[in-house]
Amino acid sequence: MSTHINAKEGDIASSVLLPGDPLRAKFIAENFLENAVCYNQVRGMLGYTGYYKGKRVSVQGTGMGQPSLAIYVQELFQFYNVQNAIRVGTCGGVNKDLSLGKVILANGACSDSSLQTQRFGSLHYAPVADFGLLDSAYHKAKELGIDVVVGQCASSDRFYDENEYWKLWAKYGVVGIEMEAAELYTLAAQFKRKALAILTVSDNIATGEATTAEERQTTFTNMMKLALETLL
Ligand code: HPA
Repeated sequence: MSTHINAKEGDIASSVLLPGDPLRAKFIAENFLENAVCYNQVRGMLGYTGYYKGKRVSVQGTGMGQPSLAIYVQELFQFYNVQNAIRVGTCGGVNKDLSLGKVILANGACSDSSLQTQRFGSLHYAPVADFGLLDSAYHKAKELGIDVVVGQCASSDRFYDENEYWKLWAKYGVVGIEMEAAELYTLAAQFKRKALAILTVSDNIATGEATTAEERQTTFTNMMKLALETLL
């Protein structure tokens, strides 16, 4: 039984967008979906189902961090038969050439989380995006004129990284730091589902720059549109 999502079987579409912030789920439902119905309010972690260009789509908040995302995504996969899951979130850029607002398609997600060691022990799993979703997002971005970078992100358990581990990730080619994608990709592998993380650079860890609220709104809108178009 699903504990954190209080919806009936069939209330949730087979394709779901996953913002961390539940209010962004509400924003997507109100601005992009037709006939959106709220199916979950437990803990304020809002979930909606509606239609985008005639396609039935849901959007579910996940909260911040891999343990929180894991609860919602496992319930979506295990109890609601969700097949395609696209995270739409923000990340910190670790490379000074990565401009604010740039959209990253995360082809892989490194992790510092104990969730990985709890599952794999001394093995080091490489969580990757579904190639079909990645390929379709890349081509949709070209069509829509959205500038994207395909690269690895790292999903950290710590937002306030006093050890500056981001520098080591950057040295090995990681482009953005966020807090959820690795667990999304790992759960998708476990349940044999498809997942992708589309990320907007909201701040640059290397330079200290951050987007204004207004910039965030426009760039997030681009990312949401790209995610929805990818599902068509
Ligand atoms: N670190 C982790 N997660 C983030 C960041 C960051 O700098 N920016 C946006 N999400």
